Amino acid sequence: MLILGIESSCDETGVALFDTEKGLLSHRLHSQVEMHTAYGGVVPELASRDHIRRVLPLIEEILQESGRSLLSIDAIGVTQGPGLGGALLVGNSIAVSLGAALNKAVVGIHHLEGHLLSPLMVEPRPAFPFIALLVSGGHTQLMAVRGVGDYQLLGETVDDAAGEAFDKTASLLGLGYPGGASLSKLAERGNVNTYKLPRPMLNSGDLEFSFSGLKTAVLVLVKSLKSAAGSLSEQQSRDIAASFEMAIADVLTAKTLSALAQTKMRRIVVAGGVGANRRLREMLTSAANASGAEVFYPPLALCTDNGAMIAFATAMRFMHGAEIRTSGNGAFGVKPRWPMTDLQRPPTV
Ligand code: KG4
Ligand code: ZN
Repeated sequence: MLILGIESSCDETGVALFDTEKGLLSHRLHSQVEMHTAYGGVVPELASRDHIRRVLPLIEEILQESGRSLLSIDAIGVTQGPGLGGALLVGNSIAVSLGAALNKAVVGIHHLEGHLLSPLMVEPRPAFPFIALLVSGGHTQLMAVRGVGDYQLLGETVDDAAGEAFDKTASLLGLGYPGGASLSKLAERGNVNTYKLPRPMLNSGDLEFSFSGLKTAVLVLVKSLKSAAGSLSEQQSRDIAASFEMAIADVLTAKTLSALAQTKMRRIVVAGGVGANRRLREMLTSAANASGAEVFYPPLALCTDNGAMIAFATAMRFMHGAEIRTSGNGAFGVKPRWPMTDLQRPPTV
């Protein structure tokens, strides 16, 4: 079965072709980061307009690369939410139009389910059940995953998401948007012990997170260093980046290990953009291994938003007999806010 996946929930246009027998055939991504950098964040209207320009040419490219035709597509999976309303509408209107024209099923996929299942796309694949740590620009959640569609929320952030904290701290250090990857690069040559930053809710006894206080602590630190010397030195910036990254990685690692202990599970899956962070990967892997657990990550290129994870999640839903929303009369809707726990378990799970 050949599935076309379309992702347009934020500032990346992603498309992919996934064959349920042969695996991922081709995928393409267009990042709008350059376009939004001038504004220091995503401008929703610009994002929607750019998705309109990109989706169809990108689909042409993956069809050509994989030597398939539009007619050979059996179903279309599209991110239906959560995300920016206008941006989601672009992907969904194209998916539903293609579905109507080709008379093929269209499946609305939850963006976070895409992230969460993405480590199952490559070997070694984690078996169910596992703990999923979802860390993206908009979400920080720990989930107990017992099967496709069986997601129990164990804890989440009460304020900023981990990626948001990375982005805001990067902006305080004068790095561009989104700043997670560049802050992490800066941190490589910094000293994690120079500045003592808080580990919010580390000992709260539950699996909730909070990152806004950490960002405020960095703000206060940057202000005091600047008032003393006028500006930050390169080394001060590196040390702040390293101390900040360490604080986040510490909290994420400790809470994920607590989730393992509480559920008595032995596997962890990390998904979402912050899952690309090297320090987090190192710390989590060594802490998990020390307690006899394994950690699985999607390939780096599939950590941030992409169409492959949407095509793959669609395939997983089909393989488990999920109810499929067909293009029908062409009516469709998007779900900018969509709690993941509202997802239905497919019947055969
Ligand atoms: O999953 P994603 O692509 O988009 C959302 O669904 O939000 O995640 C984007 C987030 C951004 O906040 C970005 O700064 C962060 O992931 N990110 C990183 C790294 N690469 C991306 N954060 C820390 N270290 C990285 N290497
Ligand atoms: Zn995402």
